[in-house]
Amino acid sequence: MAGRIPEQFIADLLARVDIVELVEGYMPLRKAGKDFQGLCPFHGEKTPSFTVSRDKQFFHCFGCGAHGSAIGFLMKHRNLEFVEAVEELAGVAGMEVPREARSQRSSGSRDLFTILEHARAFYEAQLRQSSEKQLAVDYLKKRGLSGEIAKAFRLGFAPSGWRNLLDTLNAAGISEEQAERAGLAIKRERGGYYDRFRERVMFPIHDRRGRVIGFGGRVIENGEPKYLNSPETEVFHKGRELYGLHEALAANRKLGSLLVVEGYMDVVALHQFGLPNVVATLGTAVTREHLDLLFRQVPEVVFCFDGDAAGKRAAWRALENALPLVEGNRAVRFAFLPEGHDPDSAVREFGAEGFLKAARQFGLADYLLDTLKLEVDLTTGDGRARLIERAKPYLTQIPSQSHRAGAVRTLADLSKFDEDLIRRELGLNPDRGFTPRRAPVLNRFTSRSLEEQALAMLLQMPSLAAQLDEELVGFCRQELRDGLTLLEVWTSIQARPPTSTAALLERWRDDPLEEPLAALATLDLGIPDSAFESQFAGALARLRSKAEEQRFARIKSIPFEQWTDEQRDIVRNYKRAR
Ligand code: GTP
Ligand code: MN
Repeated sequence: MAGRIPEQFIADLLARVDIVELVEGYMPLRKAGKDFQGLCPFHGEKTPSFTVSRDKQFFHCFGCGAHGSAIGFLMKHRNLEFVEAVEELAGVAGMEVPREARSQRSSGSRDLFTILEHARAFYEAQLRQSSEKQLAVDYLKKRGLSGEIAKAFRLGFAPSGWRNLLDTLNAAGISEEQAERAGLAIKRERGGYYDRFRERVMFPIHDRRGRVIGFGGRVIENGEPKYLNSPETEVFHKGRELYGLHEALAANRKLGSLLVVEGYMDVVALHQFGLPNVVATLGTAVTREHLDLLFRQVPEVVFCFDGDAAGKRAAWRALENALPLVEGNRAVRFAFLPEGHDPDSAVREFGAEGFLKAARQFGLADYLLDTLKLEVDLTTGDGRARLIERAKPYLTQIPSQSHRAGAVRTLADLSKFDEDLIRRELGLNPDRGFTPRRAPVLNRFTSRSLEEQALAMLLQMPSLAAQLDEELVGFCRQELRDGLTLLEVWTSIQARPPTSTAALLERWRDDPLEEPLAALATLDLGIPDSAFESQFAGALARLRSKAEEQRFARIKSIPFEQWTDEQRDIVRNYKRAR
């Protein structure tokens, strides 16, 4: 097995290739100011919101939020894994991909797959061998699962006890630290490790290619938490994976549509009843990444939610994320099961045929407008006009004219206003669709804290790091939203100055900070390049005085007699400076 690709190579590679040239090999771009623009290849649109920056070596779409480096572009556009994209790009640049020699300790994600596979085999065997197996077997039987379906989904059992899996992994030469990295063991504060999953029915979670990336463990009978999931690891990202996708693809390579449900049990039960086109999110809301993944497989996605309030909230989230992606032959539908049912119970009661018939089904536009109309009074002219206002921010996100057309028609029916008038109201030219899109208001720079503004500027122009010093960065230790710190980014830049924003961001690939950092790196600052340095200096000056005020306030809260000489100096200087 090859070792990791050295980080320095990634940096050199990104310095060698030009993202503008790379992207132009796949689609036309035209110059817009100092950047380049084109129609986003990742969602359908009529006017360009896809921007490629030569300075930052980064692409970003204001419409669907896609973004990344040259490597990220290849991964997304060609559906490649990270290593495949690096190899491809290296080929273009005429470079050979070196591999780090593999040491005992540092092992890449490939080894995590091996460890997780060991764990899956262990849990699966326990369902047959453990002295406590009857508990799990009886439970699965009670839930109506056949032995066959349990085998197909590789269900397993984690017995009681603190070291069952750890001892097995140890015997196979896998350390406790590695088990923890794979999300299978938990470290005790006092030292030592224990099995994360105990006394649970285990659902292995596979990626699209069938590799085990994590587990969901259900408590047997009652207990809290009902489901325990693997934590996020190097190979397990809940917002990006779907339970059952591998099994659905294995059952049928050519899927026409996919049903998205909420629970592991739902997927397994529907499969057992002959409906293999089912996936579930991993206990999280439906993300844009989930939708991208779904639409790469099939043109039609049907969300199936419970009919309760939580199900409706989840459906609305899914709708918001789906709007910018519906185009061409894509379709999104919603199915709400009768109150008190989930897909598992519904398919057992109504059968495969009756299951979706029992649900209330809506197209995307109908669900949107049906929900919005509850908020207005359609018996008054005022209320009907407000419906159009309420619908506007949603409808304008739908990129394709034909998908919008149905919604505009329904809106005309409900509001009794003329379709053309509605189109004008929505800012949709009847013939030409959109006016060019700017960064959404949410993404506006000035609504951010001072620290976030400084961090955004630093990410967008890493050479600004020279203006910062240890002392000032030390003041900014405080965590921003999502655990970002100016300190971490600045230290990284100082250690190895990056050639571009993209090269800098690659250092956080597959890290929890990846997305929050990218969000700041793509924030529309509205500052011309020539003013960047002075704006940054201004932000730093304000940060410094804020930090000094805080330090002063802290000292003032200590009784005067207890001040150290240093603190006395600080107070004297502070007062003199005011
Ligand atoms: P059962 O039929 O009771 O086994 O569960 P279900 O499949 O109907 O799941 P439910 O609708 O209760 O929850 C849907 C999904 O949310 C589950 O598959 C889990 O992914 C997740 N989930 C449910 N309960 C918990 C919990 O206690 N903790 C966590 N982290 N996730 C949970
Ligand atoms: Mn259930």
